[in-house]
Amino acid sequence: MGSMTSDPLADQIDRLRGDTPGTAHVTHLNNAGAGLAPAVVTDTMVEHLRLEAEIGGYEAQAAAEARISATRDSIGRMLGTSGSSIAFAESATAAWDRALQALLNSGQLHHGKEVLVASSEYASNVLPLIQLQRSHGIGLRFVPDGPDGALDVEALAHMLTERTALVALTHAPSQNGLINDLPAVGNALRHANSPAWFLVDACQTAGQIPLDMNELGCDFLSATGRKFLRGPRGTGFLALSQRALTALEPFPLDLNSASWSATGEGGERFTMVDTATRFESWERSYAGFLGLGAAVDYALDLTIPAIETRITTVAEYARAQLAEIPGVIVRDRGSRRSGIVTFTREAHDPLQIIAALRAAHINVSYSPAEVALRDFVTHDVTGVVRVSPHVFTTDDEIERLVSIVAAN
Ligand SMILES: Cc1ncc(COP(=O)(O)O)c(C=O)c1O
Repeated sequence: MGSMTSDPLADQIDRLRGDTPGTAHVTHLNNAGAGLAPAVVTDTMVEHLRLEAEIGGYEAQAAAEARISATRDSIGRMLGTSGSSIAFAESATAAWDRALQALLNSGQLHHGKEVLVASSEYASNVLPLIQLQRSHGIGLRFVPDGPDGALDVEALAHMLTERTALVALTHAPSQNGLINDLPAVGNALRHANSPAWFLVDACQTAGQIPLDMNELGCDFLSATGRKFLRGPRGTGFLALSQRALTALEPFPLDLNSASWSATGEGGERFTMVDTATRFESWERSYAGFLGLGAAVDYALDLTIPAIETRITTVAEYARAQLAEIPGVIVRDRGSRRSGIVTFTREAHDPLQIIAALRAAHINVSYSPAEVALRDFVTHDVTGVVRVSPHVFTTDDEIERLVSIVAAN
């Protein structure tokens, strides 16, 4: 049990569980898949859906406009930036793709240019880059892992050339428990005076560890609402640097991101909106983004450093307990660990372990090689069981998990 100062949430678990109705039904250790929502998130969404049914969708939107704008501000506060730098997206992948589309459309990515990614990169991040390699002749290079198993920042610095147009990296990969040192990458880019754009996938770190756009030194940060932030499914966001907002023209625009400002003899013209809204499309789930606002405010209230401490403490406890089981290999790497705990067990089928846990109302997940092929092939693993606790997880829950894994 941590002291008040070292683990301020340790004494508040009952309250945190009381805020989270799902804890009465399941042991949810799949927050890296989708976090178990606090009641305030669900209530906020349901309230808005009711309002839409009562007065009409557009009218409910008008009534919620100030709170939608406050959601952008809350996300901005979480990232050390302004609400006007935040674009809503329907997922982390959609946000990542919006950044790529804008770079392509603005002449920043083209034949002969290169993109650097991590070796443990997520499949949905790499797949469009493989497409661009084929369709546009854009180079794709993988930065190797360093001695601790995380991204080798020094190697990355040596790979930077005048051809490097984009450095695109995941902060905490989905499948190996580590947190890459991305502020060090930002420093390396600055130090090298590199004009390369820097795209950060914070899908697994948003809501889990403190994030600061300036400290990261990135141009784009993509994230989802549903994971450690514990927001609704179908929500995400892209945060943009001033440079990205000034220099890039997203593609395609719509009447939310730009206005069709002239027609006729002088030719067709448009004017983009000033803020990050130019990276958004018009339609969205207002209930979803109000729910996301509630999730971000809930996390900011607990404070992100306190959330990180609690998650790290529980995750380390899980690693230590799992490692005691004969045949279990905890697969996590890196000198800084996330709330993602992965393991395999010799001569045991991971899917059977997961099924036994599910039968005991314990949610964990399976990460197959396809989610990050290069990482799995490099480490000669075909799949891992993934356990991802959150602030409401108790030691008892971890012990129950461990006893079922040991018995299966
Ligand atoms: C590291 C990482 N990046 C991106 C994604 C994709 O997120 P989304 O499903 O919101 O597009 C995931 C999803 O698991 C992820 O773990």
